[in-house]
Amino acid sequence: MDSQKITVAAIRAMKSRGEKIAALTAYDFPLTKLLDESGIPLIHVGDSLGMVVLGYPDTTHVTMAEMEHHVRAAARAKPKALLGADLPFKSYETPEQAVENSKRLAAAGAEFVKAEGGHEILDPVRAIISAGIPFCGHLGMLPQHAVEEGGYHVKGKMDPEHQALLEDAQALATAGAFAIVLELVTPPVAQELTQALPIPTIGIGSGPGCDGQILVTSDLIGMFPWFTPRFVKPRVNCAAEIKAAVAAWKNSLV
Ligand code: KIV
Repeated sequence: MDSQKITVAAIRAMKSRGEKIAALTAYDFPLTKLLDESGIPLIHVGDSLGMVVLGYPDTTHVTMAEMEHHVRAAARAKPKALLGADLPFKSYETPEQAVENSKRLAAAGAEFVKAEGGHEILDPVRAIISAGIPFCGHLGMLPQHAVEEGGYHVKGKMDPEHQALLEDAQALATAGAFAIVLELVTPPVAQELTQALPIPTIGIGSGPGCDGQILVTSDLIGMFPWFTPRFVKPRVNCAAEIKAAVAAWKNSLV
């Protein structure tokens, strides 16, 4: 094995050293390779795939077969980065189903799996970890539940929500999760969780107080210009660059 390969333990150690964890999503071979060559230590094949690559209106349409297909493509880049994958909607309803589907993603090349939820998914989470597959939690705004919740709402503003987040995060850490993604959690609550937990928090739209940050790469590089979350400042406008290059080539034809 490549001695520089980034492991789950290496990601956890970054928290102990106070080193920020930069994480990004990728869904295919070239993007995974580019992110890896840019020194990103954690690359995640998120089910945001459904929205930014496959053209679905939300993440609930993504299937296991689609996740496997894209995880295989990303894994062919053989990244030094730790490579994760999302368990898609309704693929982890029971411990048995969660283990079977986590094994499928691991066989496709995922080095950890992530699923959305807290106390309500603890049995599947414990089963995944007992099967030897590293697990990353995901709390706060849960995109797989956005349809039933009527949108993408910030979490942790109210006292009961704040308390539930603390309890769910502690429960996931005790169950053996190696990290937790905090999505759209109010920055003070995200910071409180980060200080309280022994494992890294990786924020998305949750303020600067997390141990790391993750973004959907398409948002960061302006590759999905039809919608950009308000907390992302694109660093390059790939959509405009592509259109300009295509127009220049078209106009050059004689
Ligand atoms: O699906 C996804 O891209 C995610 C994020 C946290 C980036 O889960």
